[in-house]
Amino acid sequence: MVSYKELGLVNTKKMFAKAVKGGYAIPAFNFNTMEQMQAIVQAAVETKSPVIMQVSKGARKYANPTILRYMAQGAVEYAKELGCKKPQIVLHLDHGDSYETCKSCIDSGFSSVMIDGSHLDFKENIKLTKKVVAYAHKHDVTVEAELGVLAGVEDEVSAAESHYTKPEEVIEFATKTGCDSFAISIGTSHGAYKFTPEQCTKDKNGKLVPPPLAFDILKAIEKKLPGFPIVLHGSSSVPQDEVDTINKFGGKLPDAVGIPESQLRKAAKSAVCKINIDSDSRLAMTAAIRKHFAENPGHFDPRQYLTPARENMKKMYIHKIMKVLGSNDKL
Ligand code: G3H
Ligand code: 13P
Ligand code: ZN
Repeated sequence: MVSYKELGLVNTKKMFAKAVKGGYAIPAFNFNTMEQMQAIVQAAVETKSPVIMQVSKGARKYANPTILRYMAQGAVEYAKELGCKKPQIVLHLDHGDSYETCKSCIDSGFSSVMIDGSHLDFKENIKLTKKVVAYAHKHDVTVEAELGVLAGVEDEVSAAESHYTKPEEVIEFATKTGCDSFAISIGTSHGAYKFTPEQCTKDKNGKLVPPPLAFDILKAIEKKLPGFPIVLHGSSSVPQDEVDTINKFGGKLPDAVGIPESQLRKAAKSAVCKINIDSDSRLAMTAAIRKHFAENPGHFDPRQYLTPARENMKKMYIHKIMKVLGSNDKL
């Protein structure tokens, strides 16, 4: 058993309370590689932002759980080396699928876990979440749950609406599970294709404009649970300049579209205190690497193409922190 406290990490409790009060959101950046981790830490330190570094079950398998634990500890030490006296870094399990996965993460140094019971019926979701909360809280680890199902690109907007979080369920869910936060469904979705072209309108340049998020549902949830920390998944904006770069240099991402940053800015000012971003990091990395290879066909040293990739991700993380989430200067 390794406690996250030994690694210098923190849980989300105080961080979320401050963010809800302050009208900003904590960035939750997914990572799989050392370069992503370095870019996240550099961005957080330079902007004086708390940060959640999160890993999916797949990322944990990819990186190896033992390496991950030391990477998280390394992240804290690296932040200090960069001049941050008291780094506020959370290591979070994204989309935990079972009690066993959550327990294994808690036992190996995670300071926060998500148990995603959103595919279960309401009662089963409560039962599973409650079981994870009981174990996590014994170790001072915070728990994120999920209520409602995120839309998939295959859904019609109207069909997707039926999976939106039901405000009438949130009090019972929060009270019975004891979770520290939960993710809601108000129209965001995972990946780089969040809406089909049919679900969008077009602006004067012919670019796809996605439908707005369901802020009425968010408002109703806030009214039921004032001050309770809410999480938004699937919040990448899929920057069109990165998509264009990828497509220009041999990629093929037709009609990739994300959540407009103006919508996320509005959400960050509400009870939404954690915003998940993964796809934008993947796009930033891929765009830089494709460009580098196209312009430098003779290069084959990974440091040659991973350096601009890391720089591009760092630029994106800093932009999110300062211009979208507002978590800068909070340490
Ligand atoms: O919500 C999912 C995250 O973007 C992680 O994706 O399972 O491919 O690592 P992944
Ligand atoms: P994106 O695919 O929009 O980056 O969402 C990531 C996410 O929600 C991870 O849990
Ligand atoms: Zn997610």
